[in-house]
Amino acid sequence: MSHRKLNVSTLFACLLAITLPMAMSSASAGESKLDPKVGMQFVQKQMVQMTPELQQKAKALSPEIKQFLVHVAAKHSRKSDTLTLAQVMQEVLADYQAMASAITMDNGEAAAEAARRLADHRLPRGGLLPYMPINMVNTQDLSVLPAMEEVVEGGSLRLAEAAEKGDMIGAAEHLGNVTRGCVACHQHFRGQPGASTLLRK
Ligand code: HEC
Repeated sequence: MSHRKLNVSTLFACLLAITLPMAMSSASAGESKLDPKVGMQFVQKQMVQMTPELQQKAKALSPEIKQFLVHVAAKHSRKSDTLTLAQVMQEVLADYQAMASAITMDNGEAAAEAARRLADHRLPRGGLLPYMPINMVNTQDLSVLPAMEEVVEGGSLRLAEAAEKGDMIGAAEHLGNVTRGCVACHQHFRGQPGASTLLRK
């Protein structure tokens, strides 16, 4: 038991020694309010929740991806101890639909609210990695994550700003970009939902 504990804390020491200075130095002006320590504490907690197999894969990720996971944990104010990614995605879909219908109804206030909620979507138990196919938990496959985050969450925040100003055409264009991000991430990590292994190819 104590042996296992030691391993896990050594793992964190490695992870955090690499990511803390990077997370500190990379905080851009707009994100200076983000506290990397909060992100790291949460990533530590996520690591404890993972199986040893996934821990090994997570440990082998590049410093940039580790730094990105810390950034995500610091950025999102809502975190769940029980929900899965599929459940969170259902919430994301509800906010996405609320955004779209508010835009079509020229309701910039409601569109902005839904967009900000989407950008700060809940994080599932254990973070993102446990819900990725295990063979995709590597630096190369995960390297698309920062771009996906920028298109979907950055795009939602830009949509919120446009909608609030009453620029509904601009908001609609941002909605198109956000959609591109949802689709790209699903093509990369998910494939066809609910595919059965009990059907002939
Ligand atoms: C970082 C990559 C990523 C992004 C970006 C992303 N998704 Fe997903 N999404 C996933 C993955 C992975 C799953 C499969 C989760 C699972 O089955 O465990 C999924 C599943 C879903 C599901 C199915 C949930 C269910 O009930 O099984 C919906 C709906 C969904 N996403 C909506 C969205 C919408 C809407 C957006 C854009 C606003 C979006 N997603 C952006 C990765 C992403």
